[in-house]
Amino acid sequence: MIDYANIPSPCYVLEEEKLIRNLELIDSVQKRAGITIILALKGFAMFSVFPTIKKYLPGTSASSLFEARLAREEFGGQLHLYCPVYPEKEFPELIEGATHISFNSLSQWEQFKEKTLLTHISPGLRINPEYSPVETEIYNPSSPLSRLGIRAKVLGDKLPEGIEGLHCHNLCESNSQALLNTLEQIEKLFGHHLPRIKWLNLGGGHLMTAKSYDIEHLIQVLISFKNRYPHLDIYLEPGSAVAWETGILRATVLDLIETPGPLMKSGVRSQKSEVVFETGIYPPTQKLFALKGQVLDPIFLIIAMLDVSFTAHMPDCLEMPYKPRIRGAREPQAKEPRYRMGGLTCLAGDVMGMGDYYFEKPLKVGDTIIFEDMMHYTMVKTSMFNGVKHPSIGIVNRNGIFNLVKEFDYQDYKNRLS
Ligand SMILES: Cc1ncc(COP(=O)(O)O)c(C=O)c1O
Repeated sequence: MIDYANIPSPCYVLEEEKLIRNLELIDSVQKRAGITIILALKGFAMFSVFPTIKKYLPGTSASSLFEARLAREEFGGQLHLYCPVYPEKEFPELIEGATHISFNSLSQWEQFKEKTLLTHISPGLRINPEYSPVETEIYNPSSPLSRLGIRAKVLGDKLPEGIEGLHCHNLCESNSQALLNTLEQIEKLFGHHLPRIKWLNLGGGHLMTAKSYDIEHLIQVLISFKNRYPHLDIYLEPGSAVAWETGILRATVLDLIETPGPLMKSGVRSQKSEVVFETGIYPPTQKLFALKGQVLDPIFLIIAMLDVSFTAHMPDCLEMPYKPRIRGAREPQAKEPRYRMGGLTCLAGDVMGMGDYYFEKPLKVGDTIIFEDMMHYTMVKTSMFNGVKHPSIGIVNRNGIFNLVKEFDYQDYKNRLS
């Protein structure tokens, strides 16, 4: 059992054993299906664990100059590049050491064709399969007005001279059926190009390390596709799946703020003045917040003010939107008192807006809050908005020992600003 009380707060804490478990599973998929799986740095780029990841995955995919530099400096191996648009000035440095590159448009391919063909990098085009199971618009790469990937009509019947591969990314935390649908759509719209290319990169969004994922079906889908196109090298480049459920964000309750609580729809005020729990008594709050003309739910809502921020440290909770599990808490049932998690920036909406939590034991200042599954798309997306301290980063190794990898200080904040 990890003793979180002895870990600094706030802190992202990776559990090495869980990462290795994911990597072993991903490795078994690539071996059994006869494909190659690389790490998408945009989802997870905690490079102190790259030595572990490298034992299983032969490379990375990068979507910016800095990701490419990090890949070269800290990972090595295959480097697949895909940027929605390549800046002319960065291109020569960007492609150093790359093995594959995908262009988002025919015009970008035209612009960089000469420079690319002078190297050994294998060029490809990102296609838009005009299908995605992703319903959250901000995460749907194939929405009708998407700027990502070339549509079949635009690409036409013939691939441009020199193109050796196709790249398709249209999934997000998706299952193997979504991959099967994608492959069918690729064959329908782009099937005539497949005999002429050497590789097909099927992007990320394959959540193969999730408990509910049907690994056997994934392998069967990939093998059956490979049987139809045995000449193709197939790549997957997941980010989330690598770091899925491998660690937490440890936070602390700094203050508790009472609110009037949600209004009752029925308009009936309960006579109860206190709510009794197994482990404590919550005080009545409706008296405190009886606003004129409003009928208040006696079941109160308290905001737990934390030493972390949703907008700065867990942006997916606002963007996706996504509600993380909190250890020891659960969904509140009707009439149960609830806690809303609040961040420490001044943004009015810096709260876990996707819903509240019920805690068996009333929270108190100083309590530890553990947000589950906080490794992917957190550290790579965080900001220092409002000058709030960035959570530290640490690893619990296989022996259960905690190592602090990184702490942030005032200079990290200041250096970004002038
Ligand atoms: C081109 C590309 N490849 C790979 C990924 C990684 O996806 P995921 O982390 O969902 O597996 C993304 C995510 O946005 C992407 O845009």
